[in-house]
Amino acid sequence: MRIVLLGAPGSGKGTQSALLVKAYGVPQISTGDLLREERAKGTELGLRAKAAMDAGKLVDDATVLGMIRERLSRPDAVKGFILDGFPRNLVQAEALEKMLADMRTPLEAVVLLNLDLKTLFKRLTGRRICENCNQVFNIYTSPPGMLAEKCGGKPHRLIQRDDDKEEVIGKRLDVYEAQTKPLIDHYRAAGLLRVVDADADMNTVFKNIQKALETPAGG
Ligand code: AP5
Repeated sequence: MRIVLLGAPGSGKGTQSALLVKAYGVPQISTGDLLREERAKGTELGLRAKAAMDAGKLVDDATVLGMIRERLSRPDAVKGFILDGFPRNLVQAEALEKMLADMRTPLEAVVLLNLDLKTLFKRLTGRRICENCNQVFNIYTSPPGMLAEKCGGKPHRLIQRDDDKEEVIGKRLDVYEAQTKPLIDHYRAAGLLRVVDADADMNTVFKNIQKALETPAGG
């Protein structure tokens, strides 16, 4: 499996990637996660990315492409990958095509998670992450029992991502409209796009993705 998960912030890319990893045994490659790891380690790259991320803007293409090139060259990516949050604009999409052509491993599909603005906003403002185990929750949509589960014998320590504050969410959604949305037409023209309704519980969305992957593009 070599796919891209495309969708606005909060559309469920990370959540669905985790289910796909479990079902298909290929790694999730999330540029957002890679950048957050660099920030947590305090590397020069992480510090460079911080200002753009905190402002809800895209990190520069050269930084992101360097990270992706390195990640795709690791042995676990030979059996496939789920790209989550990459590419984010046409420059990144074209660079990815070139990288994959050089590796003779072209993309098989691009899955667009479709969700209305109101629901995106609610999912983003409600997202919480356990700072110990990194599990993702939602104060509005996670089943109540899930929030009460323990992490290493203690309650989860839930925090909000800095860029999930209301004032940054608006900016991220604007950036998606202006820079990432054009990829929908790009991948439709390439015959790779599969559109999935993401307005359902996570297991139903997962089934929708599986069905879409079995259906030829445009079908
Ligand atoms: P990134 O981390 O990629 O953020 P994003 O694309 O904005 O996506 P999110 O992580 O916000 O949402 P998601 O779609 O994964 O949703 P999730 O599954 O968590 O990027 C962060 C920043 O890094 C960017 O702003 C940019 O600065 C930089 N960056 C990253 N990649 C870059 C690139 N390629 N180029 C340049 N810069 C880059 O779900 C959201 C919430 O909803 C969760 O609480 C979850 O529990 C809940 N939920 C999920 N599915 C469901 C469901 N079906 N029903 C109910 N609730 C659900």
